[in-house]
Formats: sequence, C-alpha cells, structure tokens
Amino acid sequence: MAYQTLIVEIEDNVALVRLNRPEALNALNSVLLTEMGDALANLDANDKVRAIVITGSEKAFAAGADIKEMSEKGFVGMFKADFFGDATENFLRTRKPVIAAVSGYALGGGCELAMMCDFIICADNAKFGQPEINLGICAGIGGTQRLTRFVGKSKAMDMHLTGRFMDAEEAERSGLVSRVVPTAKLVSEAMAAASKIAEKSQLSAMVVKEAVNRSYETTLREGLLFEKRMFHALFATEDQKEGMAAFLEKREPQFRDK
Ligand code: CAA
Repeated sequence: MAYQTLIVEIEDNVALVRLNRPEALNALNSVLLTEMGDALANLDANDKVRAIVITGSEKAFAAGADIKEMSEKGFVGMFKADFFGDATENFLRTRKPVIAAVSGYALGGGCELAMMCDFIICADNAKFGQPEINLGICAGIGGTQRLTRFVGKSKAMDMHLTGRFMDAEEAERSGLVSRVVPTAKLVSEAMAAASKIAEKSQLSAMVVKEAVNRSYETTLREGLLFEKRMFHALFATEDQKEGMAAFLEKREPQFRDK
C-alpha cells in the first residue's frame, strides 16, 4: 500500500499506520483522511492483519485538521461535501481493533482521530487539546461528543471552551488514555499490545469491540442484552471449545477464528 501521507507496514499480524506529513505536524487534510479510509478498509479486509496501530511522529500525532486547507472554505461547500463525514464512518466500519499510539500533539482533529480508535496509549510527552475555539470554530469530527464521554462534562467543557492542553498524566487520570509509556517506547509498547490482541480469537475480539462500542449507543438494558446474546453466540464457535479445553489442559490455546 503506497500512500502520499501515510506509511503502512505489516509485521506479525499487526499493521502500523504512521501519519506522514511532518511539514504540517501531521495535520489532517482531505488527502490524508481519504488515504486513512482506504488503508483501514484494506487492512480490515486483509486476513494477515489482526490488529491495527495508528501513530504519528514524536512531536505530533496530529496537530488537527489542516487549517490552510479549511481557511478558504464556506458553509455551502462544507455542507454539500459533508466535510469530515467520511472520516468518522471509515473508523466505525473497521471491525478489527485499532489502537492510537499518541506522542506529542493530539489537537483538534488529531485528538478526535485518537478518540475514534478503540483505545489510546500515549507517550509521556503527549498533549491533548480541542483548541478549535481559538480559530472561531468548534470541533467537527466528534470532539464535543467523544471527549465528553471519555472525561465527563466539566473537563470536556473546560478543554473545548478554554482551548487548553491536557498532558499525559491528566489524560490518564481522566480516563482519556489507557496507559502512559516513555516516549521512546511508545510504538513498541503499542505494537506489543496489538500483538497480544492478535493472539486472541478474532471472533472474540470483534465481539468485544462491538459490545463495548454499543455501550455508547444504547441504554444499559439493551447493551446488557446485546452482550448476553453475543456471549451465548460465542458458544457456537470452535474457538470457545479450544479456549476452554486449553485452559483445562493447562496449555496455550490455538485459535483459528472459527
Ligand atoms: N493545520 C495546518 N498546518 C499546521 C497545523 C494545522 N492544524 N498545525 C501546525 N501546522 C503547520 C504550521 O503552520 C507550520 O507550518 P510552516 O512551517 O509552513 O509555517 C508547521 O506545521 C509547524 O508548526 P508550528 O511552527 O506552529 O510549530 P510549533 O511547535 O511552534 O507549534 C502547535 C505547535 C502548538 C501544535 C501549533 O502548530 C498549533 O497550534 N497548531 C494548530 C493546532 C490547532 O488549532 N488545531 C485544531 C485545528 S482545527 C480542527 O482540528 C477542526 C476539527 O475538529 C475538525
């Protein structure tokens, strides 16, 4: 897969997608978002890939949507093109687990991109923010909705209204990220987490992803019913038989995604 704005590598069942616009701190322009959609669709369909890591550079995961590209746009053009609409849909369509590995700035659309992933591991130099208010706009790829669900109303309002940045320690304390690791080890730690996931039954992993995401979309009662039915459904798989037999026989399971 050759792209202008991304570098994609596949290593031992894990895909590493690196944002590659260093001249603009990985700002998300239309080319990058289109290529990201294409890369995710390809990796999701690739049987060799069982988990995906998205990362940027040490200085910036992504410093937001591309301000240069957006600056000349008007309402009618944005509305007709449903600007940024596809970006979210591409993530929602991806069924394999996706980890964001964030180093440096994850601002505006960059923070939103990280939040569209299934979980975020960040480096100790990470800085998250939704500074769109400084540009006379508001977040446009889910920031007001997702950040509020991650960190609660008070902190989300603070971040969106003041435009201040949140460091790694605050991000972990607030539940925005799952772990903080030393900057130099970010990619290896994220790849190790993805490799761990890649060892599991892909059926279980996809069910977990659907069920956890469902908790953001529905009532507790409906979510619990969905989870219970999916739990029942996994008993129709060979991987359930293998996983439980391996436990009882005190050996490692050999999952076959069947
Ligand atoms: N869009 C386009 N270019 C960007 C960019 C962005 N979001 N962020 C940085 N760049 C460019 C700069 O213009 C600069 O390019 P030039 O050298 O050609 O001038 C280059 O990247 C390096 O940036 P700086 O010189 O500014 O680097 P710095 O270390 O001094 O500052 C920073 C880093 C604090 C991240 C600063 O670049 C900054 O504030 N960036 C903008 C952050 C922002 O406002 N993001 C929100 C965008 S709007 C959005 O995302 C809407 C949405 O929700 C969909």
